[in-house]
Parts: sequence; C-alpha cells; structure tokens
Amino acid sequence: MAVKVSENGRLFTIQTKDSSYQMFADDKNVLLHLYYGEKIGEENLSSLIFCTDMGFAGNPEEAGPNRKYSLDVLPQEVPGSGVGDFRDDMIEIRHADGSFAADFRFDSYEILDHSYAIPGMPALYDTEEEKGETLVITMKEKASGVVLKLFYGVFENENVITRAARLENHGETAVDLEKMLSFSMDLMYENYEMIYFSGRHAMERTAERIPVQHAKVEIGSVRGTSSHHYNPAVILCEEGADETHGSCIGACLVYSGNFVAAAQKDQKNQTRFQMGIHPTNFCFHLEKGEAFDTPQAILSYSGTGLTRLSQQYHEIIREHICRGAYKHAKRPILINNWEATYFNFNEEKILKIAEQAQKLGIEMLVLDDGWFGKREDDNSGLGDWFVNEKKMNGSMAQLAEKIHKMGMKFGLWFEPEMISEDSDLYRAHPDWAFAIPGRVPNHSRNQLVLDMTREDVRAYLLERLTTIVHDAKIDYVKWDMNRSVCDVYSHVAAQSRNGELYHRYVLGVYDLLERFLAACPDLLLEGCSGGGGRFDAGMMYYSPQIWCSDNTDAINRLSIQYGSSFFYPVSTVGSHVSVCPNHQTGRVTPFQTRGDVALAGSFGYEMDLNKISDEEKEMVKAQVAAMHEYYDLTHEGLYYRLTGQKKQDFMAWEFVTKDQSRALLTIVKTDAEGNMLPVHTKVCGLAEDKLYRCSLDGEIRSGRTWNRAGLTLHQVLKEYESIRVEFTEAEE
Ligand code: GLA
Repeated sequence: MAVKVSENGRLFTIQTKDSSYQMFADDKNVLLHLYYGEKIGEENLSSLIFCTDMGFAGNPEEAGPNRKYSLDVLPQEVPGSGVGDFRDDMIEIRHADGSFAADFRFDSYEILDHSYAIPGMPALYDTEEEKGETLVITMKEKASGVVLKLFYGVFENENVITRAARLENHGETAVDLEKMLSFSMDLMYENYEMIYFSGRHAMERTAERIPVQHAKVEIGSVRGTSSHHYNPAVILCEEGADETHGSCIGACLVYSGNFVAAAQKDQKNQTRFQMGIHPTNFCFHLEKGEAFDTPQAILSYSGTGLTRLSQQYHEIIREHICRGAYKHAKRPILINNWEATYFNFNEEKILKIAEQAQKLGIEMLVLDDGWFGKREDDNSGLGDWFVNEKKMNGSMAQLAEKIHKMGMKFGLWFEPEMISEDSDLYRAHPDWAFAIPGRVPNHSRNQLVLDMTREDVRAYLLERLTTIVHDAKIDYVKWDMNRSVCDVYSHVAAQSRNGELYHRYVLGVYDLLERFLAACPDLLLEGCSGGGGRFDAGMMYYSPQIWCSDNTDAINRLSIQYGSSFFYPVSTVGSHVSVCPNHQTGRVTPFQTRGDVALAGSFGYEMDLNKISDEEKEMVKAQVAAMHEYYDLTHEGLYYRLTGQKKQDFMAWEFVTKDQSRALLTIVKTDAEGNMLPVHTKVCGLAEDKLYRCSLDGEIRSGRTWNRAGLTLHQVLKEYESIRVEFTEAEE
C-alpha cells in the first residue's frame, strides 16, 4: 500500500518508490501540508512547524487565546478564503447571502485500490500491468453544507502523485464557485526556482527559469486553450538543480483550457504552490445537490535532477494518459501536403505527392486543409464538412481507395470547433457561433468559435466526422484548432451561467473526442492547434501525437522540442522534415539535420518529394530506414537532454533502450566560428558494467567510462550540420 495512515486516521504519508508526501489533520481539523520530497519514514513531521504570534495574523475560534495559531501562516493543503488566510486561496465561494467565505476542515478519509476517474475529463487510468491507488480526503466547509473531496492518486513506480478535487453542494441554498484550483501546497523551508515554458505561435515552449521569492511567479492562459504562450506544466526545483542533481517537483495539468500555475513565498518564506483552472471569467453555479470537479494535476518528484523527473513524466503519460490503437502500435511515417501546396491542390497533385512518397517508403498521406466546402483560402468554409468533389475530382472514398491501393494509409485534416461566417453552416445556424449579442465578435484567422457547450453542435460534428471517416475508410485525423476563444456567450445556457462556458467548452470538446474515438476506434488522431497551441496532457488522452509547432525550421525546433521534452514523451511530438529555405524562418539547413531533428518525434514529411534532387531522395530513404531502425529507442526509450538551451554552440540529446542494450545520440551544431573548437558531449544512461561500441570509430568502452568521460567528435561540424552516434552493447 502506498498510502499509510496513522494517529487515528489523521496522519497521511503517501509513499512512492523514491518520494514521500505527508499531511496531518491537526486538533482543529486543519489539514496541514508537512512534506513533499525525497523518501522518508512515516514519523509525524508537524514539529517542523514553528508557530509564533506573527502580528496581523489572526486566529480562528478554535485557537481560543492562543495567538500563535493562525491560518495565515500554517502550511496547508486547502487554503480557505475570506476567513483568516490572507495568502492566495484555492477555493472561493459566494454564498446565497452574498458573503464570500470558505473554510474547510478535515472530516474523514477513504482509500481505494485503484485510480480515480473524473467525470467528463481525462485522467491517469489503470492498466493490466499497473494499477494506481487513491486516497480520498473529505473536508467540510465550516458554516455551509459544502463538502470538498480531495483526491490523491498514487503511481509508485513513476514517483507520481496526482491531485484533483470535487466540491459538492449539500447545503440548502445554491452557491457560486468563483475559483477552484486542482491543488495548493505550502512547502515550508526550501528555496525554489520555477521552470516554465512560454512562447508564441510557431515558437512554443521555450524554457525559462526564475527564482520564487515574495513577488508571485505566475503563468497561465485565459485563451480558452492551454495556449502557445504558456504550457500547463511547471517545475519547482531547488536553486542550482540541473539535469542530474537537485530536488525537483513537477506539476502537469491534464487539461486543455484556461489555467493558472503560481508559486510565491509568504511572510514566513514558505512557498505556496498552486495550479488549476484560471479563475478569470470563471464562475460555477451549484444548486443544492450539484457538484464541480477540477481537472487532475500530475505531480512528480525527483531528488536527482530534471532528467529523471522528465523520464517519470514520459513514462506516466505514455502508459497512463495516451490511449487507443496507437498507444504502442507503430505510427506510420506520414507525408502532409500543407507546406507542399497550401490550399492550391487538386486530386492529381495529391496523388503525385503520394506516389513519390510511397516510392521512398513513406506510409501515409495526410490531406490537410482545403478539401471541403468552399475553402480556397482561410476566409471561408469552416463548418461545411462536405467533400468538395469538384476540387477532388470525385468522392473522398475514391481518393482514399487510390491511396490505399498504393499500399499507403490515408489521413484527413479537420478543424471541428470552428466556423467561418462565409459557410452554409453559419448561414443556417448563426447562433451556433460564440458571439455576445450587441457586440461584433473578435475575428481571428477570419473565423469564429463554435459553441461546443451545445449538444446539437456536437451531434452535427460527430455525424460529419464519423460519416466521412467511415465512408472513406480514413486511417488518421488531424484535429486542428486555429484561434483563441473569446466573446463566449451561449444561446442555450442560462445567461447567469456564462461563467461556466470556458470550462464547459473544454468539456464539450472532450465529449466529442470521446464519442468520435468510440465510433472510430482504429483511428490515429493527431492533435493540433496552429501547431502546439494545445500541446497538453489533456489532449494526449485522445491524441497520442500532437503537431508540436507550425514552425518546421530544424534549428528553431531544437528549442521547441527541448522545451517539450521536460514533460512530454517524444512519441507525442509531431515532427516533420520540410523544404528549405524554411517557410517560417527562411533558414537553410542540411537535409540530414532536418531528418535527425524530426527523428526525435513522430516522424514525417511536409513537402512535395517530386521537387527534391535524386540525392535528397536517397536521403529520404535513409531517414525512413533510420526511423524504423530507431523506433524502439525514440518511441519507447529513455530520453536524455545532453545540453541546455543556447548555452553552447551545439545541442545534443540521447535515447537509451530500457534494457540499456542500445543508445542513439544526436548532435546538431547551432553556431559556427572560425578555427572551430571541438564538440565534446556528455553520454548518459549506459549500464555501468556493460561494454558499448561507438558507431563513430568502433571504439569499445564500459558504460561507466562513456557515462563519465563523454565523447569528442573528431570531425568538424559546420553550422547546422548534425551527426547521429550509436552505442551498441559489445562482447568482451
Ligand atoms: C494550422 C496547422 C497547420 C495546417 C493549417 C491549415 O496552422 O497547424 O499544420 O494544418 O492550420 O490551415
């Protein structure tokens, strides 16, 4: 059992393989947070708390004359609001009398021998090989009938503890929930830095790091999606922690909508760490008997640096978030026509691209935007999911049959959540789009957002998607979403419930995805939102790979994929070889480098292979062969970042098979200077006592030596050139 309970059911210690998490319900029933870190015993750590009369730190009634006991300074699991803890709260409730108050006290607990599910939302799930465990703590609000259930899920091997919460209104009157996060945690004595991942469209997930002091460090999204701008995953690590040293706590939200993540020191230098749905534009009305569930946050701890933390996330996401036919099945190497043709294609062009691709070993053709309705550019047609048979010279089933006859799979692009005003759908159902009466809605890419909270909208989309997929025997769908969400207003929901719409939008998307995949269980779904605008663990529950960025420049991709690697396994990262000069940056990089960078992802091409030289065609064949050869490494192996971001003149990363029999190391030269200095890189993760042969010059050394002495290249890499180095286990 991972959950240990003692002291009459008031002391809870959650034990994973290498970490411990401890809470204690004190004599006033306040649930204290005592510890999260390296594995320890189950002794009660409440004496770590030092209480003094801090001044202006008020005392709850149970403290009586004891001025030292204050909610304002105690380390807590559920900080209340309006009743004496003046730090950031976790839950805000407006009661029927207009008062704002939330004060939760421990009531009882329960332990389940399986993982918990969250209604309508993705969460870590059990498999035959590995089951989680759950601690449910019930808290009662002091003066109303509101009940809070705190969920702690445990996966021991991955050092993962999840948190989520459910608020139930058992009172006589309705309440309005104005804020409800997935977790809050007060870390007592450590000094932390926060690593977060920020960016913009076509330049997502740049890692940044900042000390957590008394000014709050906060990131988030109010765009309706998790966003290109901040990813819903952050790390609190000790000062100076690096890839192989130091304590790190990760928090990754399994959610695809508005979110906030924050850390701040309080007056006692304790760090309050929080994450959940962003409270901006959020208000949930709960009638008597109604409940609200937060999304799940996946926490994980590593006492030995960031690489280990990332590997724990890779494993848990690959095994307990990703689902479906392609969870482990080999993903087809795809060619996508977007950068090859944009909207300017017809059946003939597509077939030519497919024929050439097939000859070079590519396994699937993906037909991107422009095959439906009136869609010759991005100003019209969204919502009209009917095949443009004139442009396609026949039905989609006919085209699919031709592709299938070549021995290739066939995939199709959709953007289900969107509507163009210039579409038959909009002309028939203008009220299906989000728009506030009396205001002209914000246009983005000249399109509006469908009200995904409506069942009739979802029913229409489900029918269109499944009909096309079934009729044409489509093997793969790219599910895109190309703008942020605003002007939210639903013509069917009560207007007093407008504060629920951002969250209900996400629930609507999840509902449609769930029903669509149930109807098409063999499908491979690739998520996308202008590239990586919804690259989150929530979407990975439905799509085991996500187009990681609209930026296909191999050098920019190094930092985008570097940032993505802190939480997300390489198998989830859609990564393609495209033409040069690159369409986003104008940069010219060697064909080999583009392939080597794309190999660190779910691999494909985004170009017309008829237009490349014979020499490049041979390189495509070699890259395809490499993708097959290294698939077990890239998709199931352990991932190591060997360099930081822009700290040196090259970037390097490595995959090692779980049995440590093979490793693949890739180096890309990012800057060049005259009289070039040598490239020396770390080598990681080889078994200490095994011997390995290096593919460069056949040299054999022990894993112990490679791991410590590293590798020096004896050739000069020019700017943007890359090299792959393989290590294979050797006999004495
Ligand atoms: C988004 C996607 C691209 C492409 C276009 C089509 O930008 O990220 O890959 O599908 O839409 O409009």
